[in-house]
Amino acid sequence: MRFDFYLKNIDAVEGWLTPTTAFISYFLMIHQTELGIRGNACEIGVHHGKYLIALACALAAEESALAVDLFEDQDQNIDGSGCGDRSILTRNFGHFLPPDSLVVKKANSLDLGPADITTYGMPRFFSVDGGHTEAVTCHDLRLAEQSVCPGGIVALDDILNYHWTGVLSGYARYKYNGGGLKAFALVPNKLLLSDAAFAPRYGTFMRDRFPLFAEKFGKEMLSDLIDVYGDRPDLLEMPLQKIDRLQRDLAAANEKASRMDADNAELRGQLALILHSKRYRLASKFAGLYRRVLGGG
Ligand SMILES: C[S@@+](CC[C@H](N)C(=O)[O-])C[C@H]1O[C@@H](n2cnc3c(N)ncnc32)[C@H](O)[C@@H]1O
Repeated sequence: MRFDFYLKNIDAVEGWLTPTTAFISYFLMIHQTELGIRGNACEIGVHHGKYLIALACALAAEESALAVDLFEDQDQNIDGSGCGDRSILTRNFGHFLPPDSLVVKKANSLDLGPADITTYGMPRFFSVDGGHTEAVTCHDLRLAEQSVCPGGIVALDDILNYHWTGVLSGYARYKYNGGGLKAFALVPNKLLLSDAAFAPRYGTFMRDRFPLFAEKFGKEMLSDLIDVYGDRPDLLEMPLQKIDRLQRDLAAANEKASRMDADNAELRGQLALILHSKRYRLASKFAGLYRRVLGGG
């Protein structure tokens, strides 16, 4: 399996990505496929392709990976975040995936509108990891929102990285100025967003599918409620099938426990009704009388 092979060799590609985030993002895209959502993977800010390759592993044959970066125009990389290199990207990509599924676009994202992205087909997964200033982050989020298909997922990098405060500032600017994407989860170093219809669905999917990574539920994040998933490099040492089995076992155990909780609550309710019923109180009075008169125990 392509992704399995990539995960085992992910350290060979320079970049900024935890295997946990690669794993969760990949399986979110597989879930999109199961839902019938089709489209490209697009990333603004690819550096050497570390994240884009993980996403591209989930693409079907007719879908493409669109890599947008300044590449040779690093003089426009105003905050010095990474350094895209087209030849390293192409070489890395070709190690793991069919080279013709990669589309490379050299551009400053500030010069792009949605048509520049959708001309290659609408993305279903869009990673925002280019310039890390407030203005660029806000612009790229709007671009992502306007480009993705219904049910598209947007991943925003470095949202809580204290070296890159422009990202959080840009996200706040986007949210408070009409941004329509809703955040549903925080995974190591990335915030995941989708449209209002799909964000809760993906939230539920992640709770079911990644219980071993789940750490916090329903946390406030600029007017959305998100779940927080932690880094589990220990788990990712195992073969993917084993992780999958463990997660399904845990999800089944969690479901059984919540069913038992619900049954218990119902039984407690019924008991309370019985204890408060006239008939029960009368019957227990008679039982006391009976014991006193006949000297029963
Ligand atoms: C942090 S790196 C990306 C890391 C990459 N996503 C990974 O998986 O390792 C940021 C990238 O954004 C590019 N970049 C910076 N400003 C940009 C802009 N305004 N437009 C397009 N790309 C930009 C840089 O050249 C660099 O490759």
